[in-house]
Amino acid sequence: MARKRVAVLISGRGSNMTALIKAAEAKDYPAEIALVVSNRPDASGLVRAREAKIATALIDHQPFGDNREGFERALDAELTAQRIDIVCLAGFMRLLTPWFVTRWSGRLLNIHPALLPQFKGLHTHRRALQAGVKRHGATVHFVVPETDSGPIIIQDSVPVSEGDTEETLAARVLEVEHRIYPQALRLVAEGRATFAPGGKGNGP
Ligand code: GRF
Repeated sequence: MARKRVAVLISGRGSNMTALIKAAEAKDYPAEIALVVSNRPDASGLVRAREAKIATALIDHQPFGDNREGFERALDAELTAQRIDIVCLAGFMRLLTPWFVTRWSGRLLNIHPALLPQFKGLHTHRRALQAGVKRHGATVHFVVPETDSGPIIIQDSVPVSEGDTEETLAARVLEVEHRIYPQALRLVAEGRATFAPGGKGNGP
C-alpha cells in the first residue's frame, strides 16, 4: 500500500514534528512526512524540518487578521496542492474553525499534553500540579470542532512526583508525546484507527 502523505502543522520548536519525521524514516512506516507548515515565521521547527530535507510552507496568520477562514483556505489550498492525506497538529497554536475541521474530519490528528478528558486547553502541567493528580500524561486524538474533545487514539501516563515543577513534569510528558504520536499516526495511516464523520471513533 502506498505510504500516506502527511503534513505536520507547527507554531514552535517542533519536537513532536521531529519525532514523527524520525519514525517515518523507517522503511516499514506507513506514512511519509511530505510537508511541514508553520503559521509563524519564527518557529524554530521550520529550521529543523529544512535540515531534515522536508518541504516547508509558511502561512502566516497575521495578514488575515480576524479572517480565520481566509487563513484556513490558504492552508487547505497548500495541503491539497501537496496531495496531503493526513494532517498532524503538533504544537499548532491556532484554533481551527468547524469548516476546516469538518473538511479534514477523520484525517486530522492532534496531540494534547494531558490525559483527556482532563485538562483541556492551555497550561495543562500547571493545572495538573494544582489539582494534585498522581498521574499525568498525553493524548493523541482525532480533531472535532470542540477543542480537545475528539475520539482518543492513544494516551499514556507518567507518575507525578513530589518535587515536580511545571518544567520537570512537562519534560516527562514530552517523552510520552514523542513515543505515542508516531504510534497513533501509524494506526491511522494503516486504517486501524478510524473516525467516520458524524460517527463514533473506532480505536485500536
Ligand atoms: C507539546 O507539548 C504539545 O502537546 C502541545 O504543545 C507542545 C508542542 O511542543 N500541544 P513541540 O513544538 O512539539 O516541541
